[in-house]
Amino acid sequence: MVKCLLISGSPRKGNSDIVLGKIFEKIECEKEIIYLRDKDIKHCTGCLVCAKSDKCSIKDDMGELLELMVWADVIVIGTPNYFDNVPGLLKDFIDRTNPFYETDMLKGKKLVSIVVGGGKIVNSRRVSEHALTYFSNAHKLDFVDSYYFSDLGVDDVLEDKSLDATVDTIALMINERLLALSILQNLDYCNNAFQNL
Ligand SMILES: Cc1cc2nc3c(=O)[nH]c(=O)nc-3n(C[C@H](O)[C@H](O)[C@H](O)COP(=O)(O)O)c2cc1C
Repeated sequence: MVKCLLISGSPRKGNSDIVLGKIFEKIECEKEIIYLRDKDIKHCTGCLVCAKSDKCSIKDDMGELLELMVWADVIVIGTPNYFDNVPGLLKDFIDRTNPFYETDMLKGKKLVSIVVGGGKIVNSRRVSEHALTYFSNAHKLDFVDSYYFSDLGVDDVLEDKSLDATVDTIALMINERLLALSILQNLDYCNNAFQNL
């Protein structure tokens, strides 16, 4: 069964969570949603133990989160725009994925991003085009799409007239990818079974 992991990088229970929550309801697969602010994620100390062993020297909730990333076929990251970048909470998470750097652990997994900014969409685009694109490339993820919302207040996105239509578009796109992945996985399974006959 194909699996989807949704990650909220917002320090508050706000717009990113609302959008991710609505997508979560509409996707059809095994799924998990996590809120980074509820997790114990320490700063990367730069010790680079992970460069030699693929293991992190820090013991906190990040171990469980790295396992979830390996488990997932599709990863959806929802994040606010903070100074045209991701907030420190999500940056800490990104830094702590360094054990995957130059490995194939996440290779080919699909990445979708949702960025909410209080200002112009053109600015929030920079969050996905820089921070998240580099994160995706460094881990050999397949960055399939990014979506933007322009909302400042904690739940302003609920007033956004295009919210439901955009969520439907995102969920449809994810469900199509999941279906394609599940067909490929079944083909792989049949192929292996056939070779073992
Ligand atoms: C520290 C901080 C920096 C921000 N920087 C930007 C910014 O550079 N551009 C922007 O469009 N919005 C910026 N915002 C506004 C947030 O992106 C906006 O409030 C968004 O709705 C937050 O998403 P959330 O509700 O999911 O946390 C900033 C907000 C904070 C608290």
